[in-house]
Amino acid sequence: MRKLLVAAVAVVLAAPAAWAYGPHDPNCVECHSIHYAKGRAILAVAPNTAEKNPATGKNAADDAALCLGCHNEDEGIIPIHLAQTHPVGMKPKKVKVPADLLRKDGTLGCTSCHNPHPSNPNYKYLRGTVAKGSELGKFCAICHGDKVDKGAFAKAPAKKK
Ligand code: HEC
Ligand code: HEC
Ligand code: HEC
Ligand code: HEC
Repeated sequence: MRKLLVAAVAVVLAAPAAWAYGPHDPNCVECHSIHYAKGRAILAVAPNTAEKNPATGKNAADDAALCLGCHNEDEGIIPIHLAQTHPVGMKPKKVKVPADLLRKDGTLGCTSCHNPHPSNPNYKYLRGTVAKGSELGKFCAICHGDKVDKGAFAKAPAKKK
């Protein structure tokens, strides 16, 4: 007797936002002020150096201070805390980081992993495609190749004819 198979129903998550371009301002001026800038790179938001950075023992600096200008508790925009964040602001000691991902002074910054520009279509503005987050390990592998099971992200075998 043939058994009826119940088709599994894929759970489709509702899209969180209507914007096709993601939540960083496509018109640039939330981050850059053409005539009334408050920081370098004509940033519209003043750098936020309030938080201590455990990786450097100093307060937030460089690109981290720029991102934390918005990503803090007062603004309430996905607050990021350096004490709870992947190390940033220091020169890598053990991990081999591709040179083009490091800041000019050789340190690892927020922008080593993220390109915040609206033109970046990747999940969470990462500098690598990670299939909407389901292949994040692939991204870690850019620097932590020794920890990642690359086979886990191998392409599905080609269909038979
Ligand atoms: C979410 C904030 C954000 C938005 C939105 C944004 N930028 Fe930027 N931009 C930055 C930051 C932060 C830097 C400094 C990066 C660094 O220090 O590496 C920067 C740097 C730049 C630079 C100089 C350095 C470089 O990377 O070439 C240019 C040019 C620039 N942005 C243009 C734009 C334009 C044009 C837009 C709109 C399409 C835009 N930005 C939108 C945050 C933003
Ligand atoms: C002018 C304010 C502003 C600055 C500066 C800013 N962001 Fe954002 N960021 C936002 C806003 C607004 C959102 C959307 C928040 C939400 O969806 O609730 C966001 C969201 C994000 C997200 C999540 C995107 C997603 O798809 O879920 C990432 C990642 C991010 N920002 C990284 C950065 C990094 C890295 C920097 C510094 C290079 C930065 N941001 C600087 C305002 C800013
Ligand atoms: C070593 C790489 C790396 C560095 C450095 C890094 N990030 Fe991220 N960030 C990620 C990854 C990976 C995710 C996505 C995590 C996930 O989806 O679970 C992320 C997610 C985010 C988000 C979205 C969080 C959310 O809940 O949606 C924001 C905002 C963000 N990062 C900002 C920053 C800021 C600001 C800095 C610098 C202080 C920074 N990142 C440094 C890798 C990095
Ligand atoms: C652009 C390079 C880069 C990427 C991508 C990256 N890391 Fe790192 N990671 C580093 C560096 C640099 C260090 C500091 C070690 C050193 O000084 O050599 C580090 C340190 C760490 C540490 C040790 C933290 C501690 O406090 O001891 C962990 C855990 C870690 N990374 C996890 C991850 C994970 C998980 C991902 C992917 C979501 C990731 N990293 C992506 C460069 C990177």
